[in-house]
Amino acid sequence: MDLSWQLFSSSLVTAFLLTLTLAQQQPPYLYHYCSETEGNFTRNSTYETNLNRLLSSFSRSRAHENGFYNFSSGQGSNIANAIALCRGDVSSSDCFDCVNNANTELRDRCPNQIEASIWFDYCMFRYTNHSILGRAETDPAFFIWYGDNVTNVEVFNRALGSLLESLRNKASSGTSLGKFATGSTRVSPFRTIYALAQCTPDLTLNGCSSCLSSGIVYIPQCCGRKQGVRVGMLSCNIRFDIERFYNLTAADTTTTGTFSSLFCFIKSPSCIQRFLSNNYYHMHLGYCFCSISHFRLHLHYFKVEEAKAENSKA
Ligand SMILES: *[C@@H]1O[C@H](CO)[C@@H](O)[C@H](O)[C@H]1NC(C)=O
Ligand SMILES: *[C@@H]1O[C@H](CO)[C@@H](O)[C@H](O)[C@H]1NC(C)=O
Ligand SMILES: *[C@@H]1O[C@H](CO)[C@@H](O)[C@H](O)[C@H]1NC(C)=O
Ligand SMILES: *[C@@H]1O[C@H](CO)[C@@H](O)[C@H](O)[C@H]1NC(C)=O
Ligand SMILES: *[C@@H]1O[C@H](CO)[C@@H](O)[C@H](O)[C@H]1NC(C)=O
Ligand SMILES: *[C@@H]1O[C@H](CO)[C@@H](O)[C@H](O)[C@H]1NC(C)=O
Repeated sequence: MDLSWQLFSSSLVTAFLLTLTLAQQQPPYLYHYCSETEGNFTRNSTYETNLNRLLSSFSRSRAHENGFYNFSSGQGSNIANAIALCRGDVSSSDCFDCVNNANTELRDRCPNQIEASIWFDYCMFRYTNHSILGRAETDPAFFIWYGDNVTNVEVFNRALGSLLESLRNKASSGTSLGKFATGSTRVSPFRTIYALAQCTPDLTLNGCSSCLSSGIVYIPQCCGRKQGVRVGMLSCNIRFDIERFYNLTAADTTTTGTFSSLFCFIKSPSCIQRFLSNNYYHMHLGYCFCSISHFRLHLHYFKVEEAKAENSKA
């Protein structure tokens, strides 16, 4: 049971935000795949014209919250279908830019393939002449790993396994943000794993869950011991790292750990500072409060609107 808690005022949090803004990097290209399955289209064909028109009605104002878009151009045997999925924490404006750039890049990299797909940090984009929606597709899949080898492999893998499992379940069951979940777990007082799982929101619960599972089972094979891994597939993707790489949103799960050695400065701004110095950055979306019950420490993050609602209830 929580003994006490503290919700900090908006001005206090704003002061922290100013010091915590990091320089933005361009979201990088990750991988692309020119499929040979459907063959090539010919120059000046109807299919090429349809591909050229795919995003013609896509505008910044069409952007919406879950970051998922389907496009279709033409009819019958010449139809071109496409989807775009932005990471659940990416703003709709960044999403729009990423998708447009992805379309251009993909046409460039796969100049005559009927079917092709491309992944960036902020979005994935694909087109094909068959229908896309509602199918959980896990082929092709790619893996990228980062950083040094983990030292305490067993402890790390156990924590990682349960984090990914919980994010898979959370993403599958979906929210207003789409099928997207982020969360973190502490491996030790000095080491935290951050992870993200996302499916295209047109999938069913089972479709999403099985897509994510097929990625999770590959991780030990492809990238055992790695401290940061990305798995990209057509219908879902997974990432984890020891540094937080996503913005906090309502999709972020509560971090829970049991550390008798950690001291929480209740009712003090240093409570926030303490956790920020521990791998947390980009606090701009969040409020923070701490609660302690028998050395059990919970950190909660809320979107600003929700924190205000919580505040006015209190
Ligand atoms: C499709 O075009 C690529 C070149 O862009 C070529 O390498 C490939 O062999 C072609 N595939 C078929 C089935 O013609
Ligand atoms: C495609 O169409 C353009 C203009 O309609 C023409 O200039 C070009 O030669 C055509 N290319 C091919 C490969 O047919
Ligand atoms: C696909 O796009 C159409 C037109 O924008 C939209 O009405 C529909 O809801 C979309 N379907 C999904 C599954 O997102
Ligand atoms: C995070 O927040 C910043 C600032 O609001 C925004 O520019 C960015 O697109 C967001 N998403 C990611 C993934 O950084
Ligand atoms: C996609 O295009 C290929 C090559 O033209 C064709 O064989 C295939 O039947 C098409 N698929 C659909 C669903 O139309
Ligand atoms: C990490 O571990 C693998 C074996 O699992 C080994 O081949 C590789 O050299 C190690 N890398 C580093 C940087 O220690």
